[in-house]
Amino acid sequence: MFAPFCFNALHLLFLLPVSLYTCPMFITLEGPEGSGKTSHIPPLVEYLRERGHIVFPTREPGGTSIGEQIREVIHDLKNVEMHPRTETLLYQAARVQIVEQVIKPRLAAGEIVISDRYYDSTIAYQGYGHQQDLEQVRTLVKYATGGLIPDLTVLLDVDIEEGLKRKKKDNEWNRLDAYTVEFHQRVRAGYLEMVEHEPSRWMVVDAGREWDAVQDELRRVIKSKLNVAR
Ligand code: TMP
Repeated sequence: MFAPFCFNALHLLFLLPVSLYTCPMFITLEGPEGSGKTSHIPPLVEYLRERGHIVFPTREPGGTSIGEQIREVIHDLKNVEMHPRTETLLYQAARVQIVEQVIKPRLAAGEIVISDRYYDSTIAYQGYGHQQDLEQVRTLVKYATGGLIPDLTVLLDVDIEEGLKRKKKDNEWNRLDAYTVEFHQRVRAGYLEMVEHEPSRWMVVDAGREWDAVQDELRRVIKSKLNVAR
């Protein structure tokens, strides 16, 4: 959606080395618990940088000082009394900060921004998971993002029981992980429904496979999107 710095070879032939080729792109990774998103982002970023792209990785909730503080509150296992609407609003507060402070400026500078989660997480978890009114949730995320939609969203899809097992093993258990298996099953079903409704933005990668196979497919999917954008 942002295209102020979308250089092509003709523009740059005599000005910049090819390695500085850049075209802004906003890519988000989504998935149920234990889908492995977080472990896949650093090697993916390194791979793209080695190919001359300017890439900025970030995550939600977080990615800014205010956002990281909000993350602590939302995920703290002791905040068991948190109401789903409080949870929904806290995610949006953190989101406004990252959109305005990080994502929009980076895109405007021509960078590729890769975010570990974005507003689809709110629709999946707070909308489908908590079974809140989907239209109201969509209105809230639109307010928080100012309408900024990713160019590509990759769903790392994994079986819920398998994903929760992985997360427990990795000692990364947070307050949301402790919701029921049924909650997490609704989250996964919600993601799959979103893919069906907006297939041009989403790509699904089967994250139940070996880590290397998942990383290879992620690279292939993102590379082909970048090639199309050129
Ligand atoms: P993660 O960084 O380990 O993926 O943890 C983030 C948790 O926050 C995960 O349980 C999903 C949840 N989440 C929401 O429920 N709604 C949101 O809008 C976002 C960004 C995350």
